[in-house]
Amino acid sequence: MSSSLYDHLLLIGTLSLLSLYFVIKTFKERLFPNPHLPPGSLGWPLIGESLEFLRSGHSPQPERFTRDRMEKYNPQVFKTSLLGESMAVFCGPAGNKFLFSNENKLVNLWWPRSVKKLLESSLVNVVGDEAKKMKRMIMTSLDQDALKRYVGRMDLATQHHIRKHWEGKEEVKVYPTVNLYTFELSCHLFASIDDPIQVSKLAHQFHIFLKGVIHFPINIPGTRFYSASKAANEIKKELRLIARQRRDALDKKIALPGQDLLSHLLLSTDAGGRFLSESEIVDNLLLLLFASHDTTTSVITCVIKYLAELPEVFEMVLREQLDIAKSKEAGELLKWEDIQKMRYSWNVVYEVLRLMPPIRGAFREAIVDFTYAGYTIPKGWKLCWTPASTTKDPGFFPNAEDFVASRYEGAGPAPYSFVPFGGGPRICMGNEYARPQILVFLHNIVKRFKWDLLIPDEKIPYDPMPAPSQGLPVRLQPHQSSA
Ligand code: HEM
Repeated sequence: MSSSLYDHLLLIGTLSLLSLYFVIKTFKERLFPNPHLPPGSLGWPLIGESLEFLRSGHSPQPERFTRDRMEKYNPQVFKTSLLGESMAVFCGPAGNKFLFSNENKLVNLWWPRSVKKLLESSLVNVVGDEAKKMKRMIMTSLDQDALKRYVGRMDLATQHHIRKHWEGKEEVKVYPTVNLYTFELSCHLFASIDDPIQVSKLAHQFHIFLKGVIHFPINIPGTRFYSASKAANEIKKELRLIARQRRDALDKKIALPGQDLLSHLLLSTDAGGRFLSESEIVDNLLLLLFASHDTTTSVITCVIKYLAELPEVFEMVLREQLDIAKSKEAGELLKWEDIQKMRYSWNVVYEVLRLMPPIRGAFREAIVDFTYAGYTIPKGWKLCWTPASTTKDPGFFPNAEDFVASRYEGAGPAPYSFVPFGGGPRICMGNEYARPQILVFLHNIVKRFKWDLLIPDEKIPYDPMPAPSQGLPVRLQPHQSSA
């Protein structure tokens, strides 16, 4: 049998089996519903409420998907069906706390099938002790000691980026420009990939990968997932080559063990002396590029939007950053200690994370049957927490629609009501790294420019993270004396 006919038969067989599985599962749940499950709707067969969820991401109030169901069904937990999976959405600080503190006891991390397939050998597919070991091996490149070394390099890279893409320009499209910046920075800090042609080839593939990584995992030409799979293969091929060259350079002692995350991943072992395999290194690198790149792009872009709309907030950020700039010698790079002084600026970032969280939620899977808020959660059910259940709730955030950076001063928000990075053992690995990355950029941009939005009230839909529909074009006004 020719290999292309064989491939077709294999594809048709796999699709038929998958469809059968979904049909049996969907109809069983609809025809014989378990009366003890949380209230809610499983929506349409196969697609569930995915379309409503995706559509809400394009509306001015994306949190309504969750908040409407909390009001209609139950404020603590409701059921829905997204991306082909029946799911219980845990709400409020109590729901967040429950999921974060029961990892490896009642629940485990879970990602949609599309993510698991594209990042097969990475952290997203491991749980329990294996995940702890892998996380520990990766974390030493993202912990405070490593970050102290990164801040100066971040500053240098940011200055270079601003000279090339902002200075001397009257107008800039913020989103694509910042997107390039965060990608270049991650390539540089994670794997010393500095060749602009190589970076732009990777960035192109990465863009396709991102559009399909959280989507229906239908691997046939024309679907977003198919394109994402092909892009992931291209990126992995390139990363594998880079990893092999680095291994060689390390063996010949022409590369440094502490050079970047890649060197670190190649050399570190777990307590039992096991090295990460090549696939684990490549897939975890791809995961880190995925997790670090569009999240921070989205946050920096939204910060720039709010600073244009709120001149008094801009002035306070500028004052804080100029005080830090004045305390430095000419040409001296930012240090970790400077980042700690950027308290007001970080509160501004927090407020952006509350109003426009880049991640709409994360998933878990029930590993045993258990009861929550009086309802049965069956083993195997998928669970989800979402910032939407708390961050616009006036009970936790008075004047929730307003931008109030001072709400993070003192004791700050109630425990588990503001968790942009998640919590518990599966908390975001970049929660420390994101802070200097965003603040170093903010420092360099506010001390050089003020800006106006060229399209006031431009829409910022989720796809899958918040991205302005026209790229957020701004008109730049350099300060009289640039620092
Ligand atoms: C402002 C920027 C960022 C936000 C808001 C954010 C948020 C999140 C959230 C909500 C999760 C899921 C947590 C959960 O499952 O409960 C997550 C996971 C993750 N993030 Fe971030 N993130 C950001 C930046 C970064 C950066 C810069 C990196 C890497 C340097 C990173 C690496 C990761 C990784 C590896 C995971 C998976 C952790 C695991 O499975 O245990 N993130 N992030």
